[in-house]
Amino acid sequence: MPSINVIIITLVLILFSSIILPSALIFCQTPPKCAGRQGQWELLHSSLGISAMHMQLLHNNKVIMFDRTDFGSSNLSLPNGRCRRDTNDTALKVDCTAHSILYDIDTNTFRALMVHTDTWCSSGAVLPDGTLIQTGGYNDGDHVIRSFTPCTDENCDWIEFPHYLTERRWYATNQILPDGRIIIVGGRRQFNYEFYPRLQEDSSPSPGTFRFHFLVETTDQYENNLYPFLNLLPSGNLFIFANTRSVLFDYKQNRVVKEFPQIPGGDPRNYPSSGSSVLLPLDENEGNVVEILLCGGAPRDGFSHASRRSFARALSSCGRLNVSQEDPNWVMEDMPMARVMNDMLLLPTGDVLIINGAELGTAGWENGADPAKAPIVYRPSEASNWRFSVMNSSQRPRLYHSSAVLLPDGRVLVGGSNPHVYYNFTGVEFPTDLSLEAFSPPYLAAGYTPVRPTILTSLNEVLGYGDNFSVKFTVPDYLTDKVLSVRIIAPSFTTHSFSMNQRMVVLKLMEVCRLTSDTYDVTVMGPSTAEIAPPGYYMLFVVHAGIPSSGTWVKVQSLAEEGV
Ligand SMILES: *[C@@H]1O[C@H](CO)[C@@H](O)[C@H](O)[C@H]1NC(C)=O
Ligand SMILES: *[C@@H]1O[C@H](CO)[C@@H](O)[C@H](O)[C@H]1NC(C)=O
Ligand SMILES: *[C@@H]1O[C@H](CO)[C@@H](O)[C@H](O)[C@H]1NC(C)=O
Ligand SMILES: *[C@@H]1O[C@H](CO)[C@@H](O)[C@H](O)[C@H]1NC(C)=O
Ligand SMILES: *[C@@H]1O[C@H](CO)[C@@H](O)[C@H](O)[C@H]1NC(C)=O
Ligand SMILES: *[C@@H]1O[C@H](CO)[C@@H](O)[C@H](O)[C@H]1NC(C)=O
Repeated sequence: MPSINVIIITLVLILFSSIILPSALIFCQTPPKCAGRQGQWELLHSSLGISAMHMQLLHNNKVIMFDRTDFGSSNLSLPNGRCRRDTNDTALKVDCTAHSILYDIDTNTFRALMVHTDTWCSSGAVLPDGTLIQTGGYNDGDHVIRSFTPCTDENCDWIEFPHYLTERRWYATNQILPDGRIIIVGGRRQFNYEFYPRLQEDSSPSPGTFRFHFLVETTDQYENNLYPFLNLLPSGNLFIFANTRSVLFDYKQNRVVKEFPQIPGGDPRNYPSSGSSVLLPLDENEGNVVEILLCGGAPRDGFSHASRRSFARALSSCGRLNVSQEDPNWVMEDMPMARVMNDMLLLPTGDVLIINGAELGTAGWENGADPAKAPIVYRPSEASNWRFSVMNSSQRPRLYHSSAVLLPDGRVLVGGSNPHVYYNFTGVEFPTDLSLEAFSPPYLAAGYTPVRPTILTSLNEVLGYGDNFSVKFTVPDYLTDKVLSVRIIAPSFTTHSFSMNQRMVVLKLMEVCRLTSDTYDVTVMGPSTAEIAPPGYYMLFVVHAGIPSSGTWVKVQSLAEEGV
């Protein structure tokens, strides 16, 4: 079996040079193994009937998707002859079509869900029990929250709570907090934040709403600070980036703890000059160093150009900020191409996928051109000139109102794109896209089977804070503990180029035991604190020699709640 020999020799080489992540490149010197080296695209559905503007993966392997009620008739009827009658709808007063669906990953099927009020440009987060809380929207939906609890029957649906929010939340950003509450920050003309559940005891005129002056300071003529980039840090503070500025924010005291330097270049990075951002993986083995990576966006005059139908080239720069340092500075890097309206997703390997968007223009109606169809993989731990790789291109433009989420099997679900005020399927350069694709990153290529782990541990086990946790897995060719890691990833609520609540924690590796010739038992420690990993469902991956297993769901919660 010469091919296996080649693989083994290659792996030994990888080992000795302690280079794990570019194994994809080294592996691929014999052409048959190169298939999938730059990732592969698969069309899952040419039409879902709606456009996947917002997406959230739930822990029963179903993905909620929705767009807005004011687009007119979608291409998917509501079941049982149901219709939505809404005198306030700006497009249709009686609408018998769906604007939300539940997609089942395992069967690649979907069904229509019913939203009663407008969910356009809203935000969301999943509670520790797995229930999605979606907040706000537009028009009659801007003060509404909607919940969706994962279920096994075919009938469960959104439940709406009108007038729940104290302020209108349109283009806000949410983050799940260590105590299981959700913070909802900003939104158009909202320079404040509030919480879910709502504070009951507060008797002020705007109960439970806290002014946040940083949002006043960072708004400009075109705003450029909507959907602020928000991340919960291990210190318990929030990192908040808006326009060109960023702060460490103590939401409990309503106090800016520190301000970081402005990102170089002076160009805005938030909606409508939408770039994207991630909190790079926190590693419990390395003291949880905190780094932010931010890529893409549009020049400061981009939106005014776009409104005159001349599209400026998007930004190609990324900034990386080591928040663990006392006085960090942005370290700038260049992507292989310009990009605006890009999504950024953490892959199980700890690499960052930069996907969707355009090379010209900004977010907003009719504002983008030159779709950026080739995703980029950014490898944070590589030497600085080896970090970016350009992947195989999709056939489909994914412009304004497109989205992407990571799936437990390691693929990335990609959908949406509608730069028009209505559903426009013909007569426009970039028709409303109802399709659903999956992008398989290079680590899924068949050539890696010899080193790919398979998890044997069952679903939905509890991962207690600081608690030992055992993961059994098989792998045909085990190399060494040095190339083994166990990681958890929180599924994101993705919309408008930001994946809210996305985070990865590399768990502390305690011990690896070999059980049989190809079966292993690795002991890891649960996350140290709820600030490092807020309670809730995460996908757990075993990564070996840079190749991830399929993920399995675990529930992170405190020891006191176990055994219930
Ligand atoms: C590019 O994608 C095609 C079709 O999905 C696939 O067959 C091919 O192997 C990919 N190429 C590389 C280098 O990954
Ligand atoms: C809408 O649905 C019909 C079938 O119900 C299909 O023929 C048509 O192609 C769909 N349109 C789009 C834009 O997907
Ligand atoms: C329409 O809007 C008005 C005013 O905001 C509100 O009182 C009414 O309940 C809304 N109607 C529906 C069907 O949502
Ligand atoms: C980030 O800063 C911390 C604290 O100074 C340091 O230990 C770590 O090595 C830095 N990480 C990178 C990637 O520079
Ligand atoms: C999109 O569709 C709407 C409603 O069908 C139509 O009025 C509008 O002119 C179309 N927009 C474009 C840019 O063609
Ligand atoms: C966790 O596992 C490690 C390695 O197996 C062991 O040394 C340690 O005592 C365990 N801790 C607890 C609290 O069981």
